[in-house]
Amino acid sequence: MSDAAAPARDQFGRAIEYLRISVTDRCNFRCLYCMPSEGLPWLPRAEILSYEEIAGVVAQLAPLGLRRIRLTGGEPTIRPQLERLIAMLAAIEGVEDIALSTNGVRLEERADVYRAAGLRRVNISADSLRAERIVKIARRDLGLDPVRAARAASDAGLGPVKLNVVVLRGINDDEIADFARLTIDNPWHVRFIELMPVGELRELTWDHVVPSDEVLARAGAIGRLEAVAGPGGNGPAAYHAFAGARGTIGVITPMSHTYCASCNRVRLTADGRLRTCLFGDHEVPLRDALRAGEPLAPLFRRALEGKPREHALLQMRVGGLRALSQVGG
Ligand code: 5AD
Ligand code: SF4
Repeated sequence: MSDAAAPARDQFGRAIEYLRISVTDRCNFRCLYCMPSEGLPWLPRAEILSYEEIAGVVAQLAPLGLRRIRLTGGEPTIRPQLERLIAMLAAIEGVEDIALSTNGVRLEERADVYRAAGLRRVNISADSLRAERIVKIARRDLGLDPVRAARAASDAGLGPVKLNVVVLRGINDDEIADFARLTIDNPWHVRFIELMPVGELRELTWDHVVPSDEVLARAGAIGRLEAVAGPGGNGPAAYHAFAGARGTIGVITPMSHTYCASCNRVRLTADGRLRTCLFGDHEVPLRDALRAGEPLAPLFRRALEGKPREHALLQMRVGGLRALSQVGG
């Protein structure tokens, strides 16, 4: 890891140094807020980038200043031998940080292997601490225990561990205090995320959105919360903590604030399209150029030239997105 290249800038001068890579569009869950319960066709195998191809993209973008990577999905851990990709990415000069977003189902079994391959840290989706409720939200019963998954990650050295809770009114908002309490004795960072009611979410509406101010008020009912710096990373969360707590409480407010002015990221879909915004249609296909052996730097620059100033989420112009699982959240 020598001197990193200065990050490339987009048309509005934002430094882009963070790539979220969706390694598969498939998932072993069907979370209410992420996927339709059925009828979302998976991409055919041949369209998915191989690990060698993903590493090839990163190797070409790292010299342009890309230095942080997050592996997402779908559920990234269901792609076989993910540790092989992690090791390939960790070997690329200029790559400083590799993180993973997972539902946690496979973490107890795989955390050590991923850590040994070069993974630095994990975010775990944890929408409930109650078994029967997890099944209701994820629409699948895979025996997930988010607390055990977080412990496995901590024990493997994959910290700071972040637990992402999408707050759903009438579904899990009565667990805000329970999640907040976890941060007192554990060095975990619980991040409450405002639901983005986009895509084909038949069971969820804007009525299920719980604004983060309300979340903080409800967490603050069990103890005084102070604004703190938080664990670092690339994200837009604002952090708070109870006095003397080992962990923190973050809120991510895509609905009530926009983070677009400081956006530092682009996304690579499982089939090799560079998406410059979570919402909206702007994307540049990389796969054909990659498979033809053509250089990707000009395509990356073109993508940054077209990165939109901000999303139009509040106007519900979500740009042809059927489910957030298709773009890695
Ligand atoms: N609203 C808010 N966050 C979402 N995620 C996925 N879908 C949504 C949505 N509709 C985020 C959550 C989840 C991760 C996989 O993606 O943080 O934990
Ligand atoms: Fe799968 Fe995560 Fe989407 Fe749930 S939120 S369906 S675990 S990708």
